[in-house]
Amino acid sequence: MRRSIMAVGLLAVGLVTAAALAGCGGGGGEGSNPSDPQVAMGAHLFVQFACASCHGEQGKGGVSSDVPALKDVGTSLTVSQLSSIINHGLGESANPQKPYMPVWGPVISTSQVADLVSYIRAGLPKVKDADPVPVPREQGSAVAGAALYVRDGCINCHGPSGLGGVPNPASPDKTIPPLAGQEFREEFNTDEKITEMIRSGSVLGKPPIASMPHWGGIIPDEDLAALLDYLKTLK
Ligand code: HEC
Ligand code: HEC
Repeated sequence: MRRSIMAVGLLAVGLVTAAALAGCGGGGGEGSNPSDPQVAMGAHLFVQFACASCHGEQGKGGVSSDVPALKDVGTSLTVSQLSSIINHGLGESANPQKPYMPVWGPVISTSQVADLVSYIRAGLPKVKDADPVPVPREQGSAVAGAALYVRDGCINCHGPSGLGGVPNPASPDKTIPPLAGQEFREEFNTDEKITEMIRSGSVLGKPPIASMPHWGGIIPDEDLAALLDYLKTLK
C-alpha cells in the first residue's frame, strides 16, 4: 500500500518535471517517444508533408470543414485502404472551389507511406519533436514566407528554393514545375496569378499524376501574401 502511494508520488514529481522541461522548450519537445520507430517516423512525416496543415496537428481536424479529422480512420479503414488514399488522393476534381486530398504517389516513397499508415493506425499520438517549423512573424513577410514554404510542405513538391526537379513521371512535363527561373517569372508575371494558383490549385490529371493542391480555405490570406513575398526573392 505504502509503496504504491510512494510510486504515485514519484510519478507525479516526474510528470511535473517533464511538464516544466517542456515549458522551457517553448512548446517544443512535448509528447512521447513511441516504442515503434515506424510510428515515430510517421509522426515526423505527417509534419514534413504538411498533412497537419490540412488535417490539423495529430489529425485532430478543425482547419477547414472540407477536411476530415483522421482520429477514427485508423480503426475504420484498413492498411491497404489508407495506403491507397495517400498514394492516389481522394475527392480530387477540377472544381477549384474546395480542397481535395492530394495525390502523393510520385512524391512519398512506399516505406514513407507505410510509416504514415502506422502512425495513423496508432491513433496519431503526440510524438516528441515532431513539430511544424515555427514561423517568425516580426521579421518581414518574406521571412515568414520562407518558413511557411517548409511548414506547408511546398518544398516537398517544388524543391528547396523553388528550384523544382521533383519527378512526376505521368505528367506532361515529367517533373513538378520550379517556382523560380525565367520561365516561371514570364508565365506568372503578376501577384494575382501566383496567389490565385496557390489558392485554387490545378488538377493536371488523374492519379498517378500529382497535381497542385487547392489551398483556399486552408492557408490564410496573410500567409498567402507571405508565401508570395518569399517566392519573389527566389532566383
Ligand atoms: C491540401 C489539403 C490536404 C493535405 C495537405 C492532406 N490532405 Fe488528406 N484529405 C484532404 C481532404 C480534403 C480529404 C477528404 C477528401 C474526400 O473525402 O473527398 C482528405 C482525406 C484524407 C484521408 C481519408 C480520410 C477519411 O475520413 O476517409 C486520409 C487517410 C488522409 N487524407 C491522409 C492524409 C495524409 C497522411 C496526408 C499527408 C501526407 C494528407 N492527408 C494531406 C486534404 C488534405
Ligand atoms: C503534391 C505536390 C505539390 C505541393 C505540396 C505543392 N505544389 Fe504547387 N504545384 C504542383 C504541381 C504538380 C504544379 C503544376 C500544376 C499545373 O501545371 O497545372 C504546381 C504549380 C504551382 C504553381 C504554378 C507554377 C507553374 O509553373 O504551374 C505555384 C505558384 C505553386 N505551385 C505554388 C505552391 C506553393 C506556394 C505550395 C505550398 C503552399 C505548393 N505549390 C505546394 C504540385 C505541388
